[in-house]
Amino acid sequence: MTQAPVLKVENLQTRFKSVQRGKYVHAVDDVSIELYPGEIVGLVGESGCGKSTLGRTIVGLEKATSGRVLLDGVDLTTLSGAALRDSRRALQYVFQDPYSSLNDRQTVGEALDEALVIAGTRSPEERDRRTKELLDQVGLASVVRERHTRELSGGQRQRVAIARSLAVNPRVLICDEPVSALDLSIRAQVMNLFLRLQKDLGVACLFIAHDLALVRQAASRVYVMYLGKLVEHGPSQELYDRPSHPYSQMLLASAPEVDPRIEKNRRGPLMIGEVPSPTNPPSGCRFRTRCPLAVDDCAKALPPAHVLSPGHTAACTFAADLHRGKRSALLQQEVSAA
Ligand SMILES: Nc1ncnc2c1ncn2[C@@H]1O[C@H](COP(=O)(O)OP(=O)(O)OP(=O)(O)O)[C@@H](O)[C@H]1O
Ligand SMILES: [Mg+2]
Repeated sequence: MTQAPVLKVENLQTRFKSVQRGKYVHAVDDVSIELYPGEIVGLVGESGCGKSTLGRTIVGLEKATSGRVLLDGVDLTTLSGAALRDSRRALQYVFQDPYSSLNDRQTVGEALDEALVIAGTRSPEERDRRTKELLDQVGLASVVRERHTRELSGGQRQRVAIARSLAVNPRVLICDEPVSALDLSIRAQVMNLFLRLQKDLGVACLFIAHDLALVRQAASRVYVMYLGKLVEHGPSQELYDRPSHPYSQMLLASAPEVDPRIEKNRRGPLMIGEVPSPTNPPSGCRFRTRCPLAVDDCAKALPPAHVLSPGHTAACTFAADLHRGKRSALLQQEVSAA
């Protein structure tokens, strides 16, 4: 891409104090990502891999242990006071649960008005105009304005939460599983809303999800995260066609099939074991304890990221083979299970 990234995360590390004395939870460990203006980028991985912590650290809800977050080239860790507040506004977080992110006692109009006041829109006429505009942008009818947020459906509430985030004209939305709490039937509608926002407003979006099928549809690129580290990233289609890290292969294969006939005929467990504790992560490659391809060397050092094609990298010793289809973590798994 020739444009400069709107968001650049460099070697970000977020550690929490563990309940085990003197130990730390390595939730995010040396992660670097980039987001370009108007781009939807997926971030996927199993539960506990550090996706939310990464998102929360980017917007300042968690404190980074080290590393940098640059918005339009400006390092947020060097800012303070009003400058930091202004920059933080440009980064908005959309939560998974539309029931906890809104105040039940407010009407939709009040919720949006409040967000606009916080955003610094002083004139009541201007706030009225923007409220109408925001409702329109998220596809809600103007009659909804007078209703209490508790009276709305899950999908409508998530739209209001998104409208609140948009009140400050953000450059980047971090969307943390924003549709997973919604009924299947309205997921697609809210997903379409993100696609429209990207097109109409040019907002860049980091889309966190378990559901790989959803991300594939919406995102131009995808990052795959495992136990605090990025293991692979690349253009969506390429990553889905040629996943080149054993973890990505297994994650893709274990995503539920839309077609129940395929789902029924699936053989064996596709994802072995559970994610190890981020308090005591394995040495070397973090995935090696569950990897059917692991060899002794995988325990010695972190595998370097191999560039497989423009913009597609995977941190595995066997990445080039996997990319060429010469090996498969899944086939290997069947062999070892036999
Ligand atoms: N405030 C905290 N204090 C201590 N540990 C934490 C804290 N927040 C998260 N963790 C731990 O950090 C790790 C990563 O958690 P995180 O919520 O980022 O994962 P996730 O990928 O978002 O998972 P999920 O898909 O279930 O939402 C987990 O082991 C979690 O228990
Ligand atoms: Mg999470």
